[in-house]
Amino acid sequence: MTAKYEVHGSVAVITMNNPPVNGLGHSTRVGITDGLQKANADAAVKSIVLTGGGKAFSGGADIKEFGSPKALAEPNLLSVILAVENSSKPVVAAVHSVCMGGGLELALGCHYRIAAPGCSVALPEVKLGLIPGAGGTQRLPRALGVEPALNMIVSGEPVKSELLAQIPGQKLFDKMAASAESLAEEALAYAQAVSDTRPLPLVRNLPCKHPNGDAYFQFARNMVKGMAKNFPAPGKCVDAVESATKKKFDDGMAFEREIFTALMFTPESRALRHIFMAERAASKIPDVPEDTPKRDIQSIAVIGAGTMGGGIAMNFLNAGIPVKMLEMKQEALDKGLATIRKNYEAQVKKGKLKQDKYEQRMGLLSTTLSYDDLKDADMVIEAVFEEMGVKEKVFKELDRVMKPGAILASNTSTLDVNKIASFTKRPQDVVGMHFFSPANVMKLLEVIRGEKTAKDVLATVMAVSKKIRKTAVVSGVCDGFIGNRMIEQYGRQGGFLLDEGCTPAQVDKAMEKFGMAMGPFRMGDLAGNDIGWAIRKRRYQEKPDMKYSKTADLLCEKGRFGQKTGAGWYDYVPGKRDAIPNADVVKMIEDHRASLGITPRKISDEEIVQRLVYALVNEAAHILEEGIASKASDIDMVYLMGYGFPIYRGGPMNYADQVGLFNVVQSMKRFAQNPLDDAKFWQPAPLLARLAAEGKTFN
Ligand code: NAI
Repeated sequence: MTAKYEVHGSVAVITMNNPPVNGLGHSTRVGITDGLQKANADAAVKSIVLTGGGKAFSGGADIKEFGSPKALAEPNLLSVILAVENSSKPVVAAVHSVCMGGGLELALGCHYRIAAPGCSVALPEVKLGLIPGAGGTQRLPRALGVEPALNMIVSGEPVKSELLAQIPGQKLFDKMAASAESLAEEALAYAQAVSDTRPLPLVRNLPCKHPNGDAYFQFARNMVKGMAKNFPAPGKCVDAVESATKKKFDDGMAFEREIFTALMFTPESRALRHIFMAERAASKIPDVPEDTPKRDIQSIAVIGAGTMGGGIAMNFLNAGIPVKMLEMKQEALDKGLATIRKNYEAQVKKGKLKQDKYEQRMGLLSTTLSYDDLKDADMVIEAVFEEMGVKEKVFKELDRVMKPGAILASNTSTLDVNKIASFTKRPQDVVGMHFFSPANVMKLLEVIRGEKTAKDVLATVMAVSKKIRKTAVVSGVCDGFIGNRMIEQYGRQGGFLLDEGCTPAQVDKAMEKFGMAMGPFRMGDLAGNDIGWAIRKRRYQEKPDMKYSKTADLLCEKGRFGQKTGAGWYDYVPGKRDAIPNADVVKMIEDHRASLGITPRKISDEEIVQRLVYALVNEAAHILEEGIASKASDIDMVYLMGYGFPIYRGGPMNYADQVGLFNVVQSMKRFAQNPLDDAKFWQPAPLLARLAAEGKTFN
């Protein structure tokens, strides 16, 4: 049982004990109801304290039970709260550290609440596309007041207990303890003081009124609609809180339950819950146990102060880790340093960074032209030109100077990490760390596991990435790793669509309506069309039988590389990022189409979305089967964090699961019939075909 029962004089103390945050799993719930029974049956007990051991009162639902029947097994949370309310002896919640979700709903069911200062209080269900489901939307407005309660429920953000206690007229906390240390003792004294008070106060009996309800809720609804476009839950929070002001308590509870249950089945909530789990799963590597010892990383070296090197350095400076940057020439160092300064100064100007923090960060940065100065660094990340010859020189130097046990990482986006490792006598210490541009902004980090990369190196890099607040996903070695290997197929479909009758703007619009942050052609213009061109030139040699649209090559032959040249698929005005359609580009596409003898056809948005997204899915299925990615949810994280895939669709694999893999395969078979498309590519990957035939899903 994960709750403890003790009696101190006339007070029974029930202590939830389910680390790390006293999640309200089944055995904890049983522990609480058993404790209540014992206390009510014991004539010597006059009152009860309910609290949490360790680092929390309670963080709410136990994520280990997510989606399992145990989550709903009796006593469920509603029954536990009812048992607390019905206790004939007063129950005092003693809250501290963390009191969230179901934990707060449980506290709201208690007769009294005493809080330690510094406690984070929240109803975060909205972040999973839900509303609180155990009375939170009905009790919090009664205890705290309608407006502050709605703010908390709609935002899901934590508020400190001492701030909540200052809200005029609030009944959330009957008493504030002097400190977290004195809470236990003060709770005991408080429980003794209220032991004879009758009738016992219940939050459900408090009035819930807003003096200007109709106008206020209309205003709230408008605000929420603007902010939560693709998510239904925030609007439903408003409905539920409004019902607390209009309905009787029990009717409001029934209404809350109805909304909660309906939201559980929405694709948006499924996507958010999937992402919640996927994020936690990403840091777990199947054959690298969690207790793998980690190397100590106190200082970093970065080779190359260009676009990526500078951004990579900033990540570590932001985390308070000293960085030494190396270049071959002083001018390159000066330029890199100036860019970092400029980036920080822009943040200071916007008020996002304090001047002293800026100076502190710059103080952690040093530069050098000599490899010998790097010998004390615990980890080095290389971000020099993307040429194997240059990488070879750099890694041989690193092998010469770096101390034993230092981690040698490469930010290469296309080269073979095994080959890079082979330039050293310590391939076990070599790993890929593929950052995305701009490296100080983008959340994604692909960690490339070489054939010989040591397990403790992987474990260390995963821990370091958490420190610099990246979402790290492990990828095996292959051309393009997970993300860019998939995007190549997506881009190829984009090219075919132009040949068959689309304009770039039509394709982009369809994908943006689907929810992508940017359509493929705007994305090409941002990343630089020359990068794809260079890759295609290589492919024409390596895979002469692979089918490509030549339109993008024609564009590059005109020097239209994208935003950096002021012209790509679209035109750009200096200093602005707006994509302006260009008639010559459209003419170029039409001429090319005519030269191929293709009669353009009208292509629906639905076909555009399916061809691009299912191209990602089919390539991803190959990637999974080859073991390049270890789980489908890792692939989802790559696309959500690195490629602007819409959060409310949960990533390409989750999206395919929701469409149904059978349907995905049917569409792919249809695409294979199109003579202008690539029939070979549209053969479903064996894994996908198998799952579809068995009625299964990726996740
Ligand atoms: P960049 O051209 O902006 O910077 C490269 C820097 O390395 C230059 O400042 C150059 O002076 C320096 N350098 C070249 N040879 C050197 C050597 N032997 N020793 C020390 N410094 C040397 O290139 P960028 O874009 O920063 O790319 C660097 C690496 O990051 C490449 O491997 C690239 O594939 C990878 N990458 C680039 C991304 C991007 O979007 N630009 C995204 C992810 C990875």
